[in-house]
Amino acid sequence: MDLKIAVLSGDGIGPEVILQAKKALSAIGVVYEHDFIFEDALIGAIAIDKTGSPLPEQTLNLCLNTDAVLFGAIGDPKYNSDSNIRPEQGLLRLRKELGLFANIRPLKPFKGLLDVSPLKREIVEGVDFVIFRELTAGIYFGKKKLNEAGTIASDLCEYTEDEITRIAHLAFQSAQKRRKKLTLVDMANVLETSRLWRKVVYKISADYPEVSLDFLLADNAAKQIISNPKQFDVVLTSNLFGDLLSDEASVITGSIGVLASASLGEKNALFEPVHGSYPHAKGRNIANPFASILSVAMMLEHFGLTEEAKKVCEGVEKAIEYNVVTIDLNPDSKFGTNEVGEFISNFILNKDDLMYF
Ligand code: IPM
Ligand code: MN
Repeated sequence: MDLKIAVLSGDGIGPEVILQAKKALSAIGVVYEHDFIFEDALIGAIAIDKTGSPLPEQTLNLCLNTDAVLFGAIGDPKYNSDSNIRPEQGLLRLRKELGLFANIRPLKPFKGLLDVSPLKREIVEGVDFVIFRELTAGIYFGKKKLNEAGTIASDLCEYTEDEITRIAHLAFQSAQKRRKKLTLVDMANVLETSRLWRKVVYKISADYPEVSLDFLLADNAAKQIISNPKQFDVVLTSNLFGDLLSDEASVITGSIGVLASASLGEKNALFEPVHGSYPHAKGRNIANPFASILSVAMMLEHFGLTEEAKKVCEGVEKAIEYNVVTIDLNPDSKFGTNEVGEFISNFILNKDDLMYF
């Protein structure tokens, strides 16, 4: 298969972890005879520094005309909330322009990492759910206002029936292939948008009679997701709640450094680690590349390359088995971002010198 992939490494640890993801993808290309063509482009703080814009037109055009986008991380402390122009605006605009309305974040702890989580083993073992976060609407994209005196601010949270419908179908279809349970997380006791979500999702559930539908208020969901995460199969929620809950859920897996995600639209697809730019770790060879490498696995799966995706996941499992992990997973580890990435690409290439580690 030929795939043209836009690589947007972004800020902080982005370039370091994405380098390892590219290595894994190149190794897959060699072994399975695919032609993956990478094209690098600027986004985020580095793009502001070089071009004045967090999403240069060149980057946007490239992304609109590629098969997939591999995205690193965005954000730099030098652009704080007082700045008019911020790196995050680049990612938000990219999501909107590419129409990436569904952000899919799977949560399944690795067997070898069950004791890394601060949660008790009996809570973590057997957890397997996926969050469907709406990504191009809601409070992130509503009209923002600040009065002249700078004393009153507002962010509008708006959802249309169509915006809810399209992601709800994807979530139900996923539930159908999984354990057939969908939980809609909202604040229907307070918010009008949540009441619309409930109405629309309930209506759509008639098309999926074999999927059972539950409603859960977001405050309660925040508690349940770490006190009893095994109950979840597919969690469907709005942009803001999905962002909060997926960071919280990363505690189950032991590190946010292992969570991958896919953002899908009608035409485009973007794959990115859930973690941020982690500026303190930049350039120190300590960032966990698993999340980026697993995002590559999601990309392969998206294009129907199931065997290839499996191979990448096995590489990560092997690294865990050999304890070739970064310090977020093992504080005594002598391995860094590069070594972990190298181990996984060697595994994919079937090199037999893994014992070197
Ligand atoms: C994420 C990030 C982004 C978000 C930021 C960087 C805009 O936290 O992808 O989860 O909040 O959506
Ligand atoms: Mn987030």
